Amino acid sequence: MSEQELSKKNKFMEWVDKRYPWTDFWEKHLSKYYAPRNFNFWYYFGSFSLLVFVMQILSGIWLVMEYTPTGEGSFASVQHIMREVRYGWLLRFMHTTGASAFFVVVYLHMYRGLIYGSYQKPRELVWLIGMVIYFCLLVEAFTGYVLPWGQMSYWGASVITSFASAIPYIGDLLLTWLRGGFSVTGVSLHRFFSLHVIAIPLLLAVLIFVHLVALHHVGSNNPDGIDIKKHKDKNGIPLDGIPFHPYYTVKDLVGVVVFLFIFSCVVFFSPQMGGLFLEPDNYVLANPMVTPPEIAPVWYMTPFYAMLRAIPNKLFGVITMAAGIAIMFVLPWLDRSRVRSIRYKGIYSKIAILVFVICFIGLGYLGHEGVSPLRTLMARIFTLGYFGFFLLMPIYTSYENTKPLPERVTG
Ligand code: HEM
Repeated sequence: MSEQELSKKNKFMEWVDKRYPWTDFWEKHLSKYYAPRNFNFWYYFGSFSLLVFVMQILSGIWLVMEYTPTGEGSFASVQHIMREVRYGWLLRFMHTTGASAFFVVVYLHMYRGLIYGSYQKPRELVWLIGMVIYFCLLVEAFTGYVLPWGQMSYWGASVITSFASAIPYIGDLLLTWLRGGFSVTGVSLHRFFSLHVIAIPLLLAVLIFVHLVALHHVGSNNPDGIDIKKHKDKNGIPLDGIPFHPYYTVKDLVGVVVFLFIFSCVVFFSPQMGGLFLEPDNYVLANPMVTPPEIAPVWYMTPFYAMLRAIPNKLFGVITMAAGIAIMFVLPWLDRSRVRSIRYKGIYSKIAILVFVICFIGLGYLGHEGVSPLRTLMARIFTLGYFGFFLLMPIYTSYENTKPLPERVTG
């Protein structure tokens, strides 16, 4: 940029800054936000979550232009998008693949938080807001899945809304209220559409903003789980911190290229992912008179679905499933360890995380498969393992031997 151009730009920024705190914002959150210098692979997934959120909003806006949210028109409008709208198939596959990609990156993002203790003090609120985001994502995914009005949309909506009826006294009333009638109909579809395209995305945008404000208020954790603000230079800059921009913006950009490459491979070569991302039954128009042989939710909900099926009593099944999600909210208060990161925790925590991962993936697999006595038994064992990880955490994190923490970040 020539000197003349530079002074023009400075003058313009001066004009803006007098009216809007743009430079303050830029510095506080990017060029003077000092993030630990030892971020690793696991620190990509926050940015990827943000990217997928934007991609979902954009592809969603274009899909809505041709989609009809009625019981009569919905299924045909999706076929119209797939066959007649120019690049409609691409928009739809980007959106359906994006839904699964969202959960892949968010689960890995949460796992990072779990292994590095990013939920511990002072980041409890970052985690809690994250959990509210996760819950909203589940509702967003569910309401979106109803929209193509295929067999799985219809029966999935019937099964999931029917959980409400397990609640004593008000269950049936609540169920009718949720569905907008005595069964799932076009009325239900229309309200799920409203939630899916307006209410929840708006809420998510606000929550993501609040999530980042909370994070930047306390500062990022890192793979060592130690506080980088303990050692500062004479200007008050953490010795182990580097400005988020340009260091991590550029690093994240490299990750984004790799992520988009993998994402495109799925969109172009395997958008159905063998029935995992788009189930074959959903290519058949919703029919209230014909129940599909197997009703299972999409893969990201199957761990909780497996918990539900593992319990013979409907009410207790629903309670267990809800508790499976609710217990993650209180994680910051279950961990009593003196250290944050798994690198310095003791052997019990390491075994517990391994057990948790095996149980979560095991439940995810079982929730996708049909039932058999052996599978039900396995689902019960995994459900116990899943809850054991959380409920025993105050004990094993209090009594295990931890490794001494380094003064400064390693690696
Ligand atoms: C739409 C979904 C989400 C978006 C866009 C998002 C975005 C981000 C971003 C950009 C960061 C900073 C970069 C990083 O540390 O990776 C971050 C940090 C964090 N997020 Fe999320 N997040 C989402 C969901 C969640 C969920 C579901 C949880 C957990 C329940 C969560 C927990 C955390 C925690 C604990 C941190 C701090 C990590 C650390 O400093 O080590 N986030 N998030």
